[in-house]
Amino acid sequence: MRRKLAAGNWKMNGTAANLAELEALKALLPANAPEVLICPPAPLLFRAHEVVGDTGIQIGAQDCHSHESGAFTGDISATMVADTGATHVIVGHSERREAYEEHDSDIRKKAKAAWAAGLTAVICIGESGDDHEANNTLEIIAGQLAGSLPDATTATNTVIAYEPIWAIGTGKVPTLEQIVQVHDFIRAKIVTRFGAEIGDMIPLLYGGSVKPDNAATIFEAENVDGALVGGASLKAADFAPIIQALAAS
Ligand code: PGA
Repeated sequence: MRRKLAAGNWKMNGTAANLAELEALKALLPANAPEVLICPPAPLLFRAHEVVGDTGIQIGAQDCHSHESGAFTGDISATMVADTGATHVIVGHSERREAYEEHDSDIRKKAKAAWAAGLTAVICIGESGDDHEANNTLEIIAGQLAGSLPDATTATNTVIAYEPIWAIGTGKVPTLEQIVQVHDFIRAKIVTRFGAEIGDMIPLLYGGSVKPDNAATIFEAENVDGALVGGASLKAADFAPIIQALAAS
């Protein structure tokens, strides 16, 4: 059985006051909850970790630098992320690929830095709207998988999140058939590259406008093992039904 994971990415939203949402989420977790991960802004990592305590909710960062320390003003290293009690770090989110011109090779280095610090890397891939319209999705995904995943990828050190850029924050969601097609493709690629023992066990998340009212449908796809949720992870009342839908899937 593959691990199921409901991951929330708060992006650059939230101050200490928003930790109340984490408190609220604790009370709303179903008894059979899958793995739950919240990635708040970096200044909240320590406190978020304190708030979740031993509830099983895991905390992650949204990015890390590929170096462990040094003259990189404004950046945080994977070691620093791990020091807060966090267990995961998102790398290669499309917003970072676009706004900070991060390339597959940068993301591969960040994933390795995450592992060296004992973190699980949540590696994001996804095609642009133009590539989607031009029917280039599978080609783009194949290139990102080949370039962003280090050779030492395993089912415990890595989670892959497929997030079509055109679906992020737009309310547009691919059809279930499209999600099935891409996730089956990703599964086949990683089984070919890493072998069935690893490739079959790496959790694959779908991300992009996952909401309480579409989560159950998305989780019908056999190779969707959870979701990476932006907007709907900010409020416990929105995120909890998504966690419940995953638990029921
Ligand atoms: P969204 O964001 O759920 O707000 O579309 C998803 C993401 O960027 O991870």
